[in-house]
Amino acid sequence: MDLSQILFQAQKEARELKNIQQWEDLYRKYLGKKGKLSDALVALKDLTVEERKKQGQAINHFKQELTQLLAKTQDQLRGSLKAGQRFFDVSSPAVKIPQGHGHPIMEIRRQMEEIFGSLGFSVIEGQEVTSEYYNFDALNIPGDHPARDAMDTFWLGQNNQRSESMLLRTHTSAMQVPYMECHQPPFKIIIPGMVYRYEATDASHDYQFYQLEGLMIDRDISIANFKGVIDVVFQRIFNRQIKTRLRPGFFPFTEPSFEIDLSCVKCQGKGCTLCKQTGWLEIMGAGMVHPNVLRSAKLDHSGWQGFAFGMGLGRIAMIKWGIDDIRLFFSGDLRFLKQF
Ligand code: PHE
Repeated sequence: MDLSQILFQAQKEARELKNIQQWEDLYRKYLGKKGKLSDALVALKDLTVEERKKQGQAINHFKQELTQLLAKTQDQLRGSLKAGQRFFDVSSPAVKIPQGHGHPIMEIRRQMEEIFGSLGFSVIEGQEVTSEYYNFDALNIPGDHPARDAMDTFWLGQNNQRSESMLLRTHTSAMQVPYMECHQPPFKIIIPGMVYRYEATDASHDYQFYQLEGLMIDRDISIANFKGVIDVVFQRIFNRQIKTRLRPGFFPFTEPSFEIDLSCVKCQGKGCTLCKQTGWLEIMGAGMVHPNVLRSAKLDHSGWQGFAFGMGLGRIAMIKWGIDDIRLFFSGDLRFLKQF
């Protein structure tokens, strides 16, 4: 096989190349798996030792020359593409670019802020570390109150002056009085944020979770205003007709207090496993702000009144996306998080 003849032919063809497609064909013809180079290598086995030595050298030379030639012509072809036109190999596999995205709870928080914002509520950031006073006493929960048992607390060191002991807030309600101490009504705010409870975990309890507090104070705010607000909010969060219902509840910082239920978003109230056949989903606690709380904030409780509510954002995400274990939110498991 006369390789110099083949090389000559290749050089001729290379000069006539017009586009990268032709270049690829040429590459295949000479250097590809079934190309001329490979033929020459296969043919080696039929030669004598002497011949093989000679032909081996010729093959090396041939390969070197061809590789250089093809590299050069490829560069030329790319260079001859018009300015701004990039060489683009349509046959190469696409590179998947991993994209980041929000955490499901942050997505609910974002939606809540948007919806409440459209209703005129301001978003307030509170602190996760606060005092026993703001978390309990100021909210009408004195030291011996049984409601404290329901909120087992992460203490951050005790102080002799009992109400000055610091803790991780057990609910976002701890932000109510600090806010009212330095803002004069009327106002309407929401306070999203992490809260902590020192308790065993299970599928519906974690020791840290996200809450969203709401507080609206004005001259003549009633329960009807409250219901009007939450009806709009939940319809927009779940994107469908939703009914809400108020059941009597108990919180020391509201009077009267309610538990709020939503008509089941899955079965529309007919009864299914999500709502345990009741047709309703328990969604949050709420009530009219207790006069003692207004007193703690040194607001004149005869003039001002309003409502407060607190909901777990994890619970809403669980209902919205059919998540069955609250611990998944902070497990850091990417298989879970990547689904959102
Ligand atoms: N702080 C209460 C809780 O964590 C919820 C709540 C907030 C209830 C405001 C009434 C008013 O359970």
